[in-house]
Amino acid sequence: MARVRIGQGPNILNKAMKVLVAGKGQLAWELGRTAPQNVELHIHDRDELDITDAEAVRQLVGQLRPDVIINAAAYTNVDGAEADKAAAWAVNCTGVENLCLAAKEFDCYLLHISTDFVFGGRAAVPYLPDAATAPLGVYGASKFAGEQAVSRVLAGNWAIIRTAWVYSSFGNNFVKTMIRLMQQKPQLSIISDQIGSPTWANTLALTCWQAVAERLQGIHHCTNEGVASWYDFAVAIQELALQKKLLEKPIPVLPIPTEAYPTPAERPRYSVMNKQSLLEALPSAPKLHWRAALSEMLDEPFC
Ligand SMILES: NC(=O)c1ccc[n+]([C@@H]2O[C@H](COP(=O)([O-])OP(=O)(O)OC[C@H]3O[C@@H](n4cnc5c(N)ncnc54)[C@H](OP(=O)(O)O)[C@@H]3O)[C@@H](O)[C@H]2O)c1
Repeated sequence: MARVRIGQGPNILNKAMKVLVAGKGQLAWELGRTAPQNVELHIHDRDELDITDAEAVRQLVGQLRPDVIINAAAYTNVDGAEADKAAAWAVNCTGVENLCLAAKEFDCYLLHISTDFVFGGRAAVPYLPDAATAPLGVYGASKFAGEQAVSRVLAGNWAIIRTAWVYSSFGNNFVKTMIRLMQQKPQLSIISDQIGSPTWANTLALTCWQAVAERLQGIHHCTNEGVASWYDFAVAIQELALQKKLLEKPIPVLPIPTEAYPTPAERPRYSVMNKQSLLEALPSAPKLHWRAALSEMLDEPFC
């Protein structure tokens, strides 16, 4: 059974509310530990709520009658999606549609999370929320189809927050992988020609709560401030991890082009997103540079 808990975070909501979170990954974990005081939170992992099962979603939402649904569930294995397109579409498109139908029937506000991978990466300036989409792979295409399901099924009372390069002290991600590899390998070669904005799931979660409080509407972008290549990010991870004694000694980190590290899914070369609309709609949302966010995250125990 999903554990029901009452939020311990700052009291930013003007009334008590019941919130259903689908998924139990990085974002869901951060939503759990940052939930505002007057939130009754129900976080459901895949075993407790498989969002691809329309009837299960309808039943749970009908029983629970949440004020808000936050969809933190997704098929996030970008390369795996190329080999298992059906699974990615089931979660990232059909699953979202199921949540929307239940939100519509039971009159809930829906906050859905999407990705920079809806963009093609050929831009030279940060993508606005209404910029043309051009997903390069199955993951991005399925997430874009999920976005379309939201606006197709729900007339209003929804928001989509696109984010990028997410990490947290919980779960698997680039930061934890880098630290492990830096302990094991004599040197690392990291892609230097893909540019984005690393984002601590904690920043994203705090922004989600602001979105819930303000009933944010429409599509917006949330990342930490600043831009980096994966190489820049890896160098910063090593530097901060050495400072914090998470690593004993430095190893060489070498910049390489995308072509030197072929993957099943093509990634956008440039996926920096313009956050202006979100900052205008949610002036209290956190504004933290990715390096400051990384430093804070590295102070936490990994779990
Ligand atoms: N991670 C990133 O770098 C990144 C970048 C851009 C956007 N995003 C978006 O940000 C959101 C949160 O990502 P995250 O990093 O927190 O992802 P995550 O850590 O991979 O968590 C995703 C969660 O969804 C669950 N899930 C998968 N299929 C499900 C299903 N059929 N029913 C219910 N739950 C299911 C997973 O369960 P299992 O563990 O059992 O599979 C997991 O708990 C997602 O929408 C993602 O697309 C992430």
